[in-house]
Amino acid sequence: MCSNVYWLTLFSLTDMAVHLSFLLIFTGLTGIDSITTLRKAAVEPGGSITIPCHYGSQYRNHVKYLCEGNYFSFCSIVVQTNTQHHSSRFAISDNKPQRIFTVIINNLTEMDTGYYWCGVEINGWSDDGNYFHLSVNRGTPSLYVVQQAITVSNGFNITINCHYKNSGEMKWCRLGGACVAGSSGTIDGTRVTINGSSPDVFTVIMSELTTESSGWYLCIKGDLDMPVHLTVTERHASSTTKSPTNSSPTATTPQHRVFILSFAIPLSLLIVIVVVALFMWFIFKRHQRNKAESTTTDHTVDECLTYSDIVIKGNMRQMNEPTDESVIYSTPQTKKD
Ligand SMILES: *[C@@H]1O[C@H](CO)[C@@H](O)[C@H](O)[C@H]1NC(C)=O
Repeated sequence: MCSNVYWLTLFSLTDMAVHLSFLLIFTGLTGIDSITTLRKAAVEPGGSITIPCHYGSQYRNHVKYLCEGNYFSFCSIVVQTNTQHHSSRFAISDNKPQRIFTVIINNLTEMDTGYYWCGVEINGWSDDGNYFHLSVNRGTPSLYVVQQAITVSNGFNITINCHYKNSGEMKWCRLGGACVAGSSGTIDGTRVTINGSSPDVFTVIMSELTTESSGWYLCIKGDLDMPVHLTVTERHASSTTKSPTNSSPTATTPQHRVFILSFAIPLSLLIVIVVVALFMWFIFKRHQRNKAESTTTDHTVDECLTYSDIVIKGNMRQMNEPTDESVIYSTPQTKKD
């Protein structure tokens, strides 16, 4: 009843601290959903893809990057916005007014298959990110468009052909916004019609476009997504392919980076909780001892001593066990006397 109670309290407190820390690490890595991107894209080898990453307004002036790897904390940065080094295969640009940064990957090979993260650098805390899967394999299910960037004039209609080699439901969605599944619907007031009667292509028609419809959309078929950028211009212009963003693309060579901060903060919190738990335990113990000395009767003190004796006896018994059992029986007899 004496010391064991304090130890139990201490253990349950540290146990709670450990659980709390794991919870913090877990939510720190997965709980934030302020970056939106596609889920999975399948591209043929030799092709290229533009990936849009939509972010919350709180990240407008942060450094953005593309990172490769299964785990965000241990991924390798492929390209990022604040450096001017150039790479032939990767390019990144940040459209701050639209809160979208785009990454272009050229000359895709089967080696590029894997998980990627749209990342935002945050000072003093773990970075924020969301992942997508890129699959580059010849002859496997895929979903593609001939042009990922389309420009159209205000008031006109646009037709997008989404070519597919997989099964599943067909949808047309605004990135991080509304979707149209089935044959027709509206996205932000613009009428959308889907014709899915052909076996290898579904056609999306967006009618009477307004400049508000400019932005990123997704062709969706089954588990695959293909992003398409739409620019609706004010004046009459020819339907030409344009770079989806105004800022010039920058690129870097791959570099490895480990986010120590995402572990350092929960770890330091764990240490603080353990120290507080220990402090509380000492305070509690001292308080209890003072109470025992001043107010309680001798009976309680005896109870403690008796309990300690049993513990010691148990230890002695264990020590004597391998040699001779008769010694163990003699030990309590001497104690009784
Ligand atoms: C859908 O497209 C097919 C050609 O692929 C065409 O024959 C058919 O009329 C279209 N349906 C609608 C409702 O537009």
